[in-house]
Amino acid sequence: MKISIAALVGSLLGASALVPNQGYTYDEFLGTFNKKASSRSRQLFETRLGEALAHNSQEPKPSYLKGINEFSDVEAPPMGRKVSPGLKAKNNAGTYKPQMKFDDLPTEVDWREAGVVSPVKNQGGCGSCYAFATTATVESHIALETGLLFDLSPQQVVACSPNDDHCGGFGGCMGSIPELVYDYLIDAGGYAEEWSFPYVSYDGSTNGTCKSGDDLLVKAGITGYVKLEPNNAQDVMTALAEVGPLAVNVDASNWHNYESGVFNYESYDDMDLNHVVVLVGYGTDKDSGLDYWLVRNSWSPTFGEAGYIRLLRDPVDDTPCGVDTKPQDGTGCDGEGTQYPCGACGVVFDVSYPTGAFIA
Ligand SMILES: *[C@@H]1O[C@H](CO)[C@@H](O)[C@H](O)[C@H]1NC(C)=O
Repeated sequence: MKISIAALVGSLLGASALVPNQGYTYDEFLGTFNKKASSRSRQLFETRLGEALAHNSQEPKPSYLKGINEFSDVEAPPMGRKVSPGLKAKNNAGTYKPQMKFDDLPTEVDWREAGVVSPVKNQGGCGSCYAFATTATVESHIALETGLLFDLSPQQVVACSPNDDHCGGFGGCMGSIPELVYDYLIDAGGYAEEWSFPYVSYDGSTNGTCKSGDDLLVKAGITGYVKLEPNNAQDVMTALAEVGPLAVNVDASNWHNYESGVFNYESYDDMDLNHVVVLVGYGTDKDSGLDYWLVRNSWSPTFGEAGYIRLLRDPVDDTPCGVDTKPQDGTGCDGEGTQYPCGACGVVFDVSYPTGAFIA
């Protein structure tokens, strides 16, 4: 199938991602995304454009389309973390006990429809995915608990949350994991709002300055968190339906040119969990009939489907697993071995959510 139109998707969002046609040029790209020309940028763009055209023209039609977006001429989108399921929780990490019966779950869940999900953010060139994912997850749980949806401060997390065991990186713009953020938030008393602790780490050149005590205007907080049993896809679906959005760790290595549709993950033999995002629902795609997980990313609304990506959702009793031989890679918690994450991009492996959400 030929994509004959360079359709602008969601043009209200400004420089949106697009599905390129055969004649799409580097100059058009520079114009659309307000980019400066360079030979490296052109080279990467040409490679990604070729990939997208070849992928989109496959027969039979692929389950998702690849497109061109603001990341099409950069080396790799910002991520910056590895997963650490072996981490010993410092503060009460609870276990999940499903209340709803699996057979009674709704066929579709999308927490955006409940008004408890804030707009998609952009972490920029800072490896702060863990801060954005945890913040969005906490925001949703505060909204579910209190009816009030705040924009809380990822910068607070980047500047303040410690990562002494080097879990998922080195902290700051160098990656971390949600579990450590929950621990920090419980200790710190909670979150400041975005306006009182704004994001300054966008270009990755600073971690910002931590605030505490009277300087930290705490607005909302949590008292604990729950970590799901690793690779229990049924629990993930159930928790998503009955508890709310969940922070998850994924392999986002091949997401950069995802445009729309249900992303079919193919890298099980060579998994590399490297990104933290938020599961906000699940459902079945009407066109393809494929089941999906609905995932909120932190690469601005120009990424994918207005900032979201849908990942293939396998049957809960038949979820494929892969091998991640690089959990350390300079980043996993010190002393961590090979991991075996399951689900597309490892989406059901390391899953958590905050508890005891409150407004200060
Ligand atoms: C941010 O914090 C991390 C962890 O402490 C450190 O490795 C990194 O050098 C810091 N970055 C900057 C720009 O200060």
